[in-house]
Amino acid sequence: MLKFAVLALFVAVVAAGDFKFSDCGHGEVTKLDLSDCSGSHCVIHKGKEFKMSADFVANQSSEKVEIKIIAKVNGLEIPVPGVESNGCNHMKCPVTKGQKYTFNYGISIPKLLPNIKALVTAKLIGDHGVLACLIVDGEIKN
Ligand SMILES: *[C@@H]1O[C@H](CO)[C@@H](O)[C@H](O)[C@H]1NC(C)=O
Repeated sequence: MLKFAVLALFVAVVAAGDFKFSDCGHGEVTKLDLSDCSGSHCVIHKGKEFKMSADFVANQSSEKVEIKIIAKVNGLEIPVPGVESNGCNHMKCPVTKGQKYTFNYGISIPKLLPNIKALVTAKLIGDHGVLACLIVDGEIKN
């Protein structure tokens, strides 16, 4: 019993600061940090710069990396405007299979957005298909 408590405490400490996302891949993403967010629900404030940093292990070698971000609001999938598609501007390219990479992305959140809750799917796509996929439970507020 005590063993489990110690283990649980250890896991909790290790996970501190990391954002808990849903994996829509097969464990390629090992760590996710979102500015000002911890736990599993991220509140994003309008008119601010939002930063994400994700560590992942490449499961393919690739020259190019493409970014795809889709928000699901009330069951409707909407593309997120203003997202850059060239992932190589945010990480080291080309990518070598089996190596670990850190993807750093920053976006300024427009003030004109409505307040919404969304499940945001972020995918990195390489020459041979999906490289990494994660889903974040988020909310945009003032
Ligand atoms: C890489 O990982 C993604 C996400 O899990 C998966 O869809 C894809 O098939 C994998 N690709 C290879 C080449 O293993």
